[in-house]
Amino acid sequence: MPRPAIALFEKTFGTTPRVAASAPGRVNLIGEHTDYNGGPVLPIAIAARTTAAIGPGPEGEPGVLEAISARDNAVVRLKWQEELPKNWAAYLGGVLRELWALDTIPADTGARVAVASDVPVGAGLSSSAALTVAVARAFAPGLTPRQIAGVAYRAEHDHVGVPCGTMDQTIAALGKRNHALLFECASLEAQQIPFSARLLLVDTGSRRDLATSKLTERRTECDEAVKRLKVELPELVWLASWPVEWLPRLKRALREPLRSRAVHVVSETARTRFAAQLLAAGKIKQFGKLLFESHESCRRLYECSSPELDTVVGAAQRAGAWGARLTGAGWGGAAIVLVGKTDKKTIPAIQRAYQHAYGRTPPITAVQASPGAHAERI
Ligand code: GLA
Repeated sequence: MPRPAIALFEKTFGTTPRVAASAPGRVNLIGEHTDYNGGPVLPIAIAARTTAAIGPGPEGEPGVLEAISARDNAVVRLKWQEELPKNWAAYLGGVLRELWALDTIPADTGARVAVASDVPVGAGLSSSAALTVAVARAFAPGLTPRQIAGVAYRAEHDHVGVPCGTMDQTIAALGKRNHALLFECASLEAQQIPFSARLLLVDTGSRRDLATSKLTERRTECDEAVKRLKVELPELVWLASWPVEWLPRLKRALREPLRSRAVHVVSETARTRFAAQLLAAGKIKQFGKLLFESHESCRRLYECSSPELDTVVGAAQRAGAWGARLTGAGWGGAAIVLVGKTDKKTIPAIQRAYQHAYGRTPPITAVQASPGAHAERI
C-alpha cells in the first residue's frame, strides 16, 4: 500500500517525498484489557497497513508540519511545539515531540507528511497505532522497533490523551509474518510464537465512540482495585500480578463492580499465558477453547462486549468453530473466529445469525499474521 501515500504526497506538495514507511493494524488473539494492568497480550499484526510519506517542511517556516490524509484529502497545518489540534494531526505532533525528547530530531524540524491507509478506523484494529508507528519509523529509521513502539505509545497516551496500554504500538512495531507476539507488558519480555492457523475477522460495523470513555472508566476501576488490594498485599503494583491462586481472597476484598473487573484481569492473565503455551505446542483446538472463555469473561465480568459481538461469537460456537472472541477494546468493533482449514459451516452460520438479528450480513475476511513496521521504497 505505499503507492497511494507517495502519489498523494506528490499531488499535494508538488515534489517527491524523501522517505516512506508503513505499519500494520492488529488483532489481539487473547489477553484483553491486560496491557494497562501489567499483564500479557498475544496479538498479531495484520495485512492492512498505514503508510506515511514524508519530506522537508515548507521553506522558511521552521517547526511547521503540513499533513494530508487520503481519508479526508485536506491539508492540516500545525506547529508541533505548540498546542496540538483536535484532529488526527495531533498524533503526528505527539510523535515529533517524543522524537525531539529523545534527541532524534531538532526542535525546529518542519515536515510535509502524506498518509494513506487501508486499516479501517474505529473497527478495533488499532488504526491509530498503525499511524503513529508508521510516522515514527519514517522520521527515525535508526531507532529500534522497541524504541519506535515507546515513541508511538507516548505520543498517543501522553500527548493525545488516549487511555490506551502498550499492546497496539508494540505489535505494530514488532510484528512478524506468521507469528503471534506474546508480550509481557510489565517486564517487557517478548516472545514470537508461530501462528499460521485459519483466522477470520468479522467486522460488526458498530463504531462506538463509547470505547474511549468506557476504557477510561475501566482503567479507573482497575486503579481503585489495586489501591484496595494493597491492603492485603502491600507490594502489589499491577493488578495482573495478583496471584491467580488467591482469587477467593481477592473476591472477599473487593465489592462489585471492582470484583468482576479484577477477576477478569487476573484470570485473563493466567489464560493468556496458558494460551501461549498451547499455541507454542501446536495445540490449536485447546487454544481455541480459551478464546471462547476469554470472550465470556469480557462479556460477563469486564462488560466490554456488545450484542453484535455476542451474536457473532455465539453463532461461531454453535457452528463448531474452534474459538471466537471480541478483539481490541470491545463495545463494538470486530470479532475473531478460529476455524479449521476445511471448515465450511462457520461463515454461513455467522451470516445467517447476523442477518436474522440485524437485517444485514457483516464483512468477513481471512487474516494472516503479517510483518510489523518497515521502510517503503519511494
Ligand atoms: C485498546 C487499547 C489497548 C488495549 C485494548 C484492550 O485497544 O488501545 O492498549 O488496552 O484496548 O485490550
